[in-house]
Amino acid sequence: MHPLIDKFHRAGQGQVFAHFDRLDTATQTQLLQDASEIDLAEVAQLSRTLLGAAASAVDLADLNPAPYISLPQHGGDRAAWVQAKTTGETALRNGRVAAFTVAGGQGTRLGYDGPKGTFPVTPVRARPLFQVFAEKILAAGRRYGRPLHWFIMTSHQNHDATVAFFTEHKNFGLAEQYLHFLRQGRMPAVDFAGKILLESPGAIAMSPDGHGGSLRALERSGALDLMQREGIDCLSYFQVDNPLVRCIDPAFIGWHLLQGSEMSSKMVPKAHAGEKVGHFCVQHGKLVVVEYSDLPMDRQEETDATGQLRFIAGSIAIHMLDREFVRRMARPANTGAALAFHRANKKIPTIDDRGNPVKPAEANGVKFELFVFDALPFAQNPVVIETERADDFSPVKNAGGTDSPQTCRDDQLRQFTRWLRTCGVEVATDESGLPNIRIEVSPLFGYDAETFGEAWRKLDPVPAVSDGLCLDA
Ligand code: UD1
Repeated sequence: MHPLIDKFHRAGQGQVFAHFDRLDTATQTQLLQDASEIDLAEVAQLSRTLLGAAASAVDLADLNPAPYISLPQHGGDRAAWVQAKTTGETALRNGRVAAFTVAGGQGTRLGYDGPKGTFPVTPVRARPLFQVFAEKILAAGRRYGRPLHWFIMTSHQNHDATVAFFTEHKNFGLAEQYLHFLRQGRMPAVDFAGKILLESPGAIAMSPDGHGGSLRALERSGALDLMQREGIDCLSYFQVDNPLVRCIDPAFIGWHLLQGSEMSSKMVPKAHAGEKVGHFCVQHGKLVVVEYSDLPMDRQEETDATGQLRFIAGSIAIHMLDREFVRRMARPANTGAALAFHRANKKIPTIDDRGNPVKPAEANGVKFELFVFDALPFAQNPVVIETERADDFSPVKNAGGTDSPQTCRDDQLRQFTRWLRTCGVEVATDESGLPNIRIEVSPLFGYDAETFGEAWRKLDPVPAVSDGLCLDA
């Protein structure tokens, strides 16, 4: 017997090879390859801790709201914000910063078939998410005189399609040597008894290891070494679903550096108690994020003496990461600092004993995922800063309703309108700030109020806006 098959049998996972003898040679080789990726001891340990009777509910003891640095317009120290911005700009001029996007997900919830980053998101020209980020990164590199490296984490499922998309679009103007794709790891799905599931007689049901897998992927791919060689120690982390993100934000970089933080985060005050975002909290003296699904609604609804939500600080999944902190987290064996896996019950397409496909109507198993924010309690001096939702967060998650392509397009239009108004341009809007004309601004023209204003004032002649407006580089 092949030694790997023997190993699976001894671990009680022999079912993975139940149909092996009737597979063709290429499929056998692939199955062995996939199986070799699996850490059987880890799967056994996860099954014990997350599936068994001992599996505990989320610990909510000693949980309090986390402190954060308020924006100047909400009482924050204006001079300190100015200092933070200057510090961040210096870091950018010195080439200390790179961008990092987690883009392992598919657009399934959107009803979109393809890597999520290829989803057309802008309001007039329907440009894809990846192009919006690429142009913001390119523009910031030009502004600070140092091109920025951009790391993009893909999954097995969407890696080739993502790379092909960039090639097809000539990397959206980014030079090849600054663009790096790294593939995240995979975990096998198991049934409720901890047995690894097959999705077909020759393939294990494998799924991405969660955005927390990005820390391992950065290390494994050599990205951290590349950063070190290039003198980069700050990584600006954001999700592929949020085109409004200020991917290169000098003030955020500055706060991170000034506070000597290993991992920093942005918060927005929650829009309402039930908003589906994680909550920044302090627990046993450490900063943590508690997911919306883990914080009972009565806790989410708690208010303070002023009537404001107590757990107000919503996580919008934007972080600054220190390079050596990522390295430490990626090598838990050396340091004991390890992210813990979360379990998610899922309907996992599988096969029956005879190899026939089974499409379950109910959850039939479990996927294991790592979350990047679980690194926060291990970070030195973690800092949370406030940001304006309208200028940093409008994700595309659902096909309709909240966080949909429609709400995101509207938020982009409102933002372009605010920028125009700052420059003294009259634009008619409804009471929500939504204009009745079509506007689109490429980040290469301007990517925030400041860069937009500078570019706008250079325009000669000044364009009319009454019939709509598209501004490119
Ligand atoms: C996430 C956060 C939530 C936060 C919200 C803000 C989690 C568990 N929750 O919710 O705290 O308030 O975003 O928008 O993350 N991804 C990968 N590989 C994976 C899994 C995810 O790259 O294996 C990427 C996706 O492409 C996406 C991002 O991570 O960019 C978020 O994943 P998703 O599962 O959509 O998280 P949400 O439930 O929306």
